[in-house]
Amino acid sequence: MNNAVAGFSKLSKEEKINWIANHYFSTPSEAISLLKNYWNTDDKIQRLHDEFIENTITNFYIPLGVAPNFLINGKYSIIPMAIEESSVVAAAAKAAKFWSTRGGFKTTVINTEKIGQVHFIYKGEESKLYLFFAQLKSKLFEATESITKNMQKRGGGILDIILKDKTNLLPNYYQLHATFETKDSMGANFINSCLEQFAKTLKEEALEYELFSEEEKNIQVVMSILSNYVPNCIVRAEVSCPIEELAEKHILNPQDFAEKFVQAVQIAEVEPFRAVTHNKGIMNGIDAVVLATGNDFRAVEAGIHAYASRNGHYSSLSHAKIENGIFSFWLEIPLALGTVGGLTSLHPLVKLSLEMLEKPSAKELMQIVAVAGLAQNFAALRSLTTTGIQDGHMKMHLNNILNQFEANDEERVLIKKHFKHHVVSHSAVVDYIENLRKNV
Ligand code: MEV
Repeated sequence: MNNAVAGFSKLSKEEKINWIANHYFSTPSEAISLLKNYWNTDDKIQRLHDEFIENTITNFYIPLGVAPNFLINGKYSIIPMAIEESSVVAAAAKAAKFWSTRGGFKTTVINTEKIGQVHFIYKGEESKLYLFFAQLKSKLFEATESITKNMQKRGGGILDIILKDKTNLLPNYYQLHATFETKDSMGANFINSCLEQFAKTLKEEALEYELFSEEEKNIQVVMSILSNYVPNCIVRAEVSCPIEELAEKHILNPQDFAEKFVQAVQIAEVEPFRAVTHNKGIMNGIDAVVLATGNDFRAVEAGIHAYASRNGHYSSLSHAKIENGIFSFWLEIPLALGTVGGLTSLHPLVKLSLEMLEKPSAKELMQIVAVAGLAQNFAALRSLTTTGIQDGHMKMHLNNILNQFEANDEERVLIKKHFKHHVVSHSAVVDYIENLRKNV
């Protein structure tokens, strides 16, 4: 069958679904009814979701869970998390409870600067370009006044614009490197609009600049775009307590635990294979809150991993130490987040999540997200250095196995009771279900 299609985006939603069902499914009616089963019964909500992207055919569910008891700078929060991985919310909630009786999480926003660049090619004398830029700079600010007016009212705007010579990397390559304060918005649209105006003004003014030769006047703008690497938009989250206070059910010897925990972090600091998994655990918490609050988790991921490599090798985002009998564990990460604009006022569940967080500012959200990451990392390292990860992980995964085998309520009760005291593995659960069913 020829599966190429022209003008697909112009088809109605029903037509798109029918086309896909007829081209890719042996039982088209089943595919159609599954897709439609996931439509929202409220047409208004469905239309909203349809219009977020192109070619929407249905909704893709991910659970929205909550982790309560997060004591952050003396105030309790319940953190919404959108994530599919079974153990993440449970781990966050456990870590939150653990630290709530040990002083809670302390957070600080270190800075909030965003970055954008106009990448361009200039073929000519470098000193002339710098002279040109000296008189261009104020014109760049003037040309963007209509874009920056509202942002300035909110206390933000363009912080600075500098000319960067990148010809050591690529022939004739220069940048306008601009820094921004975007207050409670993530700022992508604001920054990109400013940059596109900078690019236009740069080209126009170059054509008029008398000291430039004809070739020098012909500046070629390659692209204008914000950077998702924000090493000056940093938040810090930490926990600490006297070592003896670490004692609990799985931590019978707190000194040994603290030392092993610090070693586990040190391994992630020096060993990239471990660092990637260690940081993945941190991102379990971060992405889940970023997604629930309608922020761009791809941007956050890209920026954070670049930051994890800033010293030339990929390393742990978190750190730990023992000093004078005090165990401390912390992370510092770049986070460009928004609590206004984008999806934040559009997606009903994003609005609900933000309301649950008591309508945080972008700075407050940075702190909450960093805490979710640190809590997740603490929970993972605590398991890894004590019981091992599989015990808790497989207990949470049990439900997925039961769903896979369509276990009924009676079976679920029996199976859960049994595996409270037995090691959960996929094959052990399957054997147990099969035995149960044989004996009926
Ligand atoms: C699993 O999603 C995350 C962990 O692998 C993180 C870690 O190893 O630190 C448990």
